Amino acid sequence: MENPSWVSGEALWEWRRVACQQVSACAVNPQEAGAYLRELDWMLMAVAEVDRLALRLESYRNRPAINVERSLADLSTLWQRRLQEKVPLQYLLGRTTWRDFTLAVAPGVLIPRPETELLVDLAIAAAATMAVEPSHWADLGTGSGAIALALARSFPQAIVHAVDASASALTIAKQNAEQLGLADRVLFYRGSWLEPLESLQGKLTGIASNPPYIPSALVPALQPEVARHEPHLALDGGTDGLEFLRVIAERAPQFLQSGGVLLLEMMAGQAEAVADILKQSGCYCNIQIHCDLAGIQRFAEAYRI
Ligand SMILES: C[S@@+](CC[C@H](N)C(=O)[O-])C[C@H]1O[C@@H](n2cnc3c(N)ncnc32)[C@H](O)[C@@H]1O
Repeated sequence: MENPSWVSGEALWEWRRVACQQVSACAVNPQEAGAYLRELDWMLMAVAEVDRLALRLESYRNRPAINVERSLADLSTLWQRRLQEKVPLQYLLGRTTWRDFTLAVAPGVLIPRPETELLVDLAIAAAATMAVEPSHWADLGTGSGAIALALARSFPQAIVHAVDASASALTIAKQNAEQLGLADRVLFYRGSWLEPLESLQGKLTGIASNPPYIPSALVPALQPEVARHEPHLALDGGTDGLEFLRVIAERAPQFLQSGGVLLLEMMAGQAEAVADILKQSGCYCNIQIHCDLAGIQRFAEAYRI
């Protein structure tokens, strides 16, 4: 915990009571209120030594002292920014959990989504079927470094090459690599997609990418947490949303070794078009589409012939 301070259980209970009242005053419907209340408890569990059961039963109220990483006044400011300005909680706290680790995040970087965890599972499954040990992987559009770092943790012998066009994203990604002790095996490059990796042509075991795929016209209409606070460079996939999926699918064959795998995340409704792009290239075999946990087609997998 950073700069922990002690508050009484009673003071924390009172703080939460007021925060709940603020939710009732500002939520537009019961669903939104429920979502805010879940986030409120999630925030408290992240910053204070309280667990879900204690919050639900309010048993923490009797504790003489609870370790909290911020003052209650600071927490009130954060909670107001969450409710009034719709700033995502992960930005307010400066971190998020993803797979089995914690990542620093800040407004210059996309907050990694839970469904993207599945892209890493697909990479692990793909690597298990390959004759060669994973040696060089690439994560294109690395953002916080989430995918690259998860690949490095899963493939202890591999070097992961993580590319992003955004300097602020790379600053945070490097910080995350240091924090996780992976800075020696995750190499960062600033540039566009595969451009900085010229020297790795024909050498990559796998390429994973969660590129921006939202059609430009839809970006302003996304929920305010996303449209107002997350970087549009991480969201906007051009007129049809497929601009970067196309670039990556077309350029990847030059960089993959024979039998190497390309794994792409995409938006609901794009699977057919992405499968077509991969087929049209003529460089891939065993093209498959995978669903997320909601049963929506969100990932493409293809192997370099
Ligand atoms: C949807 S975000 C994915 C971030 C991260 N991989 C994740 O899954 O949480 C897309 C990322 O692509 C980056 N990006 C946008 N255009 C790019 C380009 N031309 N070349 C490389 N990266 C780019 C953005 O800065 C952003 O970090």
